[in-house]
Amino acid sequence: MITMLLAAGLMAAQPAAAEPPVADPAVKPHYPTLPVITQNEHLYETFGGKEGLTALMDDAMNRWLANPRTRPFFANADQARIKDLLVKQFCVIMHGPCTYDGRTMAEAHRGMNVSEGSFYALVEELQVAMNKRHIPFNAQNRLIAALAPMHRDIINNTK
Ligand code: HEM
Repeated sequence: MITMLLAAGLMAAQPAAAEPPVADPAVKPHYPTLPVITQNEHLYETFGGKEGLTALMDDAMNRWLANPRTRPFFANADQARIKDLLVKQFCVIMHGPCTYDGRTMAEAHRGMNVSEGSFYALVEELQVAMNKRHIPFNAQNRLIAALAPMHRDIINNTK
């Protein structure tokens, strides 16, 4: 299921820009071109605000450290700093009252050579952590759809 979701998100990935005009309104896209979370979805509240996101990231990081596909990347990294920046990043994505002061995804993952398999493993562990916190499936889906386009800057980033 997660693979299908990600595949849908990856296909929907587009550079951040205004939604292109619909030339023929009869042609309905399968996915939104830009997987943007709108303010009125109240996703930040659904995830339990800053407290909820912090607990989610604590759990997710433990899972990334336990998973052989993600562990090598995080084992010797500054885990507390990454968690803090992920909370801020997700908070901003969900229109929460935060500022993201980390690097761009391209910069942060440069030269790391993250494979597609490791990327999927990270998202799958995140999904397990979200399930544990009883985040509704639809809300999970919205977050993953917002994260999926980032794969372009993260996977096989050898720059
Ligand atoms: C959509 C998926 C991902 C998101 C949203 C994400 C987000 C972030 C953020 C916000 C940071 C901190 C930025 C900074 O250091 O200024 C970061 C750093 C990092 N990420 Fe990711 N990441 C993703 C995927 C991955 C994957 C798949 C891996 C490896 C399996 C990974 C490994 C790392 C590591 C090791 C750092 C620390 C880099 C350093 O300290 O120099 N990330 N990521």
